[in-house]
Amino acid sequence: MAADVPKIIIAGAPASGKGTQCELIKAKYGVVHLSTGDMLREAVAAGTELGRQAKDFMDNGKLVPDELIIGVVQDRLAQPDCAARGWLLDGFPRTKAQADALAAGGVAPHAFIVLDVPEVLLVERVVGRRTDPATGKIYHMTYFPPESEEVRARLVQRADDTEEKIVVRVAQFKENCAAVEGCYRDVLVQIDGTRSKDVVFADITLAMESETIVAAAA
Ligand code: AP5
Repeated sequence: MAADVPKIIIAGAPASGKGTQCELIKAKYGVVHLSTGDMLREAVAAGTELGRQAKDFMDNGKLVPDELIIGVVQDRLAQPDCAARGWLLDGFPRTKAQADALAAGGVAPHAFIVLDVPEVLLVERVVGRRTDPATGKIYHMTYFPPESEEVRARLVQRADDTEEKIVVRVAQFKENCAAVEGCYRDVLVQIDGTRSKDVVFADITLAMESETIVAAAA
C-alpha cells in the first residue's frame, strides 16, 4: 500500500452541499479542509489586500480573478499539515486556469468528487442557509435547523446568499464546470447530492475507500 495521504477535491454548484460534506469528511478522515470561499471571506473580514481586491467580485456572485486565488492555494497546500494529514480542497479549482496551475505545480488529487444538484434545489438551499460564526457549522432553517435558541440567535446569513446572486453564481459555475471536470476525467466521482446529507456522505465514504483512494485513506 502506498504511503500517501488522501488528496481530494470536492466540487459542485453553489449550495450543492460541499461545505456540509467537508465537515463530515474532515471529522472522519482527519484531512485538512481548505475552502477558498472561507479563505476569501476571512480575508475580507480581516481587511487584507486580498480581501480588499476580492470583495466586490464576491458580493456580486462573480469569481475572483485567477491570479488572486491561485498563489494563495498553492502556498497553503505546501504547508506541512497538508503533507502530513492530506487535504480536501473545497471550491478550487473553479476554472481551467486554476486546474492547469495545480497540475503545473505537480498537484494531482486521488478523487475529484462532484455533487450533482439541480438548479431548482440550489435556490431553496441558498436562501435557507445560515452559518454559526462561533463554530463555523452550516445550518439550513428547514433541513438542519439550529439545536438551541442560543445558536439560532447568533446565526448569520452570507451576503451572496440571495435569489438574485445565486443566479449569477450558478451561471459562473456552468460556464466553467465542463472544462474543469475535463481535467480530472480519470479520477471523477459523480454523486447525487439531492439526497439526505448522511446518504450523500455514505457514497463519499465508499468512494474514499474504493480501490482508487484506498491507499491514501487507509
Ligand atoms: P464558496 O464559499 O466556495 O461558495 P459556493 O461554491 O457558492 O458554495 P457554497 O459555500 O455556497 O455552498 P456549498 O456547496 O458549500 O453548500 P453548503 O454545504 O453550505 O465561494 C464564495 C465566493 O468566493 C464565490 O462566489 C467567489 O466569488 C469566491 N471564490 C471562492 N473560490 C473561488 C475560486 N476558486 N476562484 C474564484 N473565486 C472563488 O449547503 C448549502 C445549504 O444546503 C446549507 O444550508 C446546508 O445546510 C444545506 N444542505 C447541504 N446538504 C444538504 C442536503 N443533502 N439536503 C438538504 N440540505 C442540504
